[in-house]
Amino acid sequence: MTRRQFASLTTAASYNRILGANDRVRMGFIGLGNRGDQVHDAFLEHGDSQTTAICDLREDYLDLAQKKSRGTPLRVIDYRRVLDSRDVDAVAIATPDHWHAIMFNEACKAGKDVYVEKPLSLTVFEGRRMVEAAARHKRVSQVGIHRRSSKFLKEAVDLIQSGGLGKITVARSYHIVNEWPNGIGRAAGAPPPNEQEWERWLGPAPKVPYNANRTYYNFRWFFHYSGGQLTNMGVHYMDMMRWALGKGAPRAVTALGGKWAVEDNREIPDTLEVLWEFDGGLMFSFSQYNANSAPGNLQNSEMEFRGTKGTLYLHGNRWEVVPEPVSDHARPVRTPIGRDEQRRLERSGRKPLIEPRVVKGTAGTEAHARNFLDCVKSRAKCNCDVLEGHLSTSATILGNIALKTRSFLEWDARTEKFTNNAAANQHLHYKYREPYRLD
Ligand SMILES: NC(=O)c1ccc[n+]([C@@H]2O[C@H](COP(=O)([O-])OP(=O)(O)OC[C@H]3O[C@@H](n4cnc5c(N)ncnc54)[C@H](O)[C@@H]3O)[C@@H](O)[C@H]2O)c1
Repeated sequence: MTRRQFASLTTAASYNRILGANDRVRMGFIGLGNRGDQVHDAFLEHGDSQTTAICDLREDYLDLAQKKSRGTPLRVIDYRRVLDSRDVDAVAIATPDHWHAIMFNEACKAGKDVYVEKPLSLTVFEGRRMVEAAARHKRVSQVGIHRRSSKFLKEAVDLIQSGGLGKITVARSYHIVNEWPNGIGRAAGAPPPNEQEWERWLGPAPKVPYNANRTYYNFRWFFHYSGGQLTNMGVHYMDMMRWALGKGAPRAVTALGGKWAVEDNREIPDTLEVLWEFDGGLMFSFSQYNANSAPGNLQNSEMEFRGTKGTLYLHGNRWEVVPEPVSDHARPVRTPIGRDEQRRLERSGRKPLIEPRVVKGTAGTEAHARNFLDCVKSRAKCNCDVLEGHLSTSATILGNIALKTRSFLEWDARTEKFTNNAAANQHLHYKYREPYRLD
């Protein structure tokens, strides 16, 4: 396809309906694989969401989505036909990461509001352009970092923001699973089963020989399409930390790691430590141990917030506060205390500074979809709009750049450039394959 042919197919129409509180939002779903199917389900939970278009490269995924839809949606392989449809108010994009920016910006230009999966983008440059496109076309946006719409996590955020854990100096996060020895395996090189599908799947990414591991679901293990577990899972944790502690962009980042044990054809590390420094005295870490499965902390949690008065451990549908005991500074307290130790301390007249607490709840996608539908109607800002998604995503991408350049990098959030390493700035974007371009 020439650039001109491609451009002529991209939509330029910009029209929108004004929706009232009782109206249905007519949704187009682009990318209906693993996550796209879950997102579709989340929207179907709400009676005021109507599936009017479905798009994927695979007929089996389209069959399933069609079966689930109420009515007969437009069914297409080319996402631009969804953007051209006057029967679509908003789109949900759940394609691999390397497609998010182009689809998001074209959707904004076509006058659609956009729910886009995390990570927002593959590069920092793309993320900023997405923020600008949403503002330019006055679009409502929601990034699929769904924890932002969870009530029980909001309670944890409120506790932290009210100083309930004292001064937090460290937040840590973990992605731990032992994938040794074979991981995703070594899919044999072979011609693509369908050349046109492979071409559409690659989109702006470099043309490389087909390998089945590069495509459905497993694309996460390859840098042309993803930032690996750091941007896949790490973006949820980075966002939670930024939300709870009211932080914007980090001021410095460093990372170490590599593919050291797992014997498959992945590109991303199986072992990784990333550290970020934020203004105000705060360090955040992401530990990816994919060649060993021992818990990262005693609570076996995904995240921990370490404050002067206590620690909050967060795992899935549960969070727990473990207090620090009062220290007389003569004999430093070595560990957070459990309930027995707390009782013993109370008997001896020394009290913990805060109450222990366990809170259970859910962090499902339905609430995040609900928030998006409400905002499409009210034009209010979503819980995780494109700017929040950009700040969280780009912080994780910076970690990958530190790893690739084996550096300690200082970041200027205003210019979105590194100030101490010119070579690292070369990694803030990549050259799209012709004819793909970002509006
Ligand atoms: N929020 C979450 O918790 C969460 C969970 C899982 C995945 N995700 C995100 O969702 C996205 C998709 O991941 P996945 O696991 O569903 O991958 P997947 O490979 O299962 O699904 C991606 C789908 O996109 C389709 N696709 C690819 N290129 C396309 C194109 N040009 N036009 C139309 N369709 C195209 C593919 O056919 C495929 O069905 C990723 O960005 C991922 O990070 C988010």
